Amino acid sequence: ATEEAASYQVNRWPWASILRVIIPVLLSIGTCYLVCNLCFRQQQQLPRMLPGWDLAELQLNHTGSRQDPRLRWQGSPALGRSFLHGPELDDNGQLRIQRDGIYRLHIQVTLANCSSSTWTAEPQRATLTVAICSPAAHSISLLRLSFHRGACWVASQRLTFLAHGDILCTNLTLPLLPSRNTDETFFGIQWVRP
Ligand SMILES: *[C@@H]1O[C@H](CO)[C@@H](O)[C@H](O)[C@H]1NC(C)=O
Ligand SMILES: *[C@@H]1O[C@H](CO)[C@@H](O)[C@H](O)[C@H]1NC(C)=O
Ligand SMILES: *[C@@H]1O[C@H](CO)[C@@H](O)[C@H](O)[C@H]1NC(C)=O
Repeated sequence: ATEEAASYQVNRWPWASILRVIIPVLLSIGTCYLVCNLCFRQQQQLPRMLPGWDLAELQLNHTGSRQDPRLRWQGSPALGRSFLHGPELDDNGQLRIQRDGIYRLHIQVTLANCSSSTWTAEPQRATLTVAICSPAAHSISLLRLSFHRGACWVASQRLTFLAHGDILCTNLTLPLLPSRNTDETFFGIQWVRP
């Protein structure tokens, strides 16, 4: 029995020491792999997981003759390629911000029935202005674009800070009429970061 035990011990020793080294090494590698994988995946999913990834892409809601310089907008997948996720439209079709942050805003406005005669008939300077119209404390012009003589459209974009409750207005010089075509006239914002 002593001999058997001795030979058993001789046979067992190398395996035990090998396993004693290998098992912790394998466990550490496995844990590292899992942790790294989880971190990496979470980083990749972060933009999609953030609540309030606010954005809006709007089309014109035009109602014939214009008395108000502000353009009215609408957004819904039912209307075509426009939508609202987060920001809202007020009763006058003006965009209201729901979340503080830095936004990229973009706009293009094309004039309806535009030709060189539009400009001989309208000698005054025609402009499109995107501004924070309310609350009064935040009131500021954000983008001012001029229709140069003969130009039938303007387009631009910028990054700007907007706060919850800010209402954006887009004023087009009266009595110019904007095109309602959704590939000619559109307005949108996209939340970029806090
Ligand atoms: C678009 O304009 C019509 C007529 O003024 C109005 O009834 C409707 O509510 C407007 N839609 C939006 C989304 O503001
Ligand atoms: C544009 O021209 C067409 C055809 O001449 C006319 O029916 C339409 O009312 C005009 N639209 C605007 C916005 O002036
Ligand atoms: C835009 O039009 C509205 C309504 O007339 C006016 O209150 C506002 O001051 C105008 N804003 C700019 C920047 O022109």
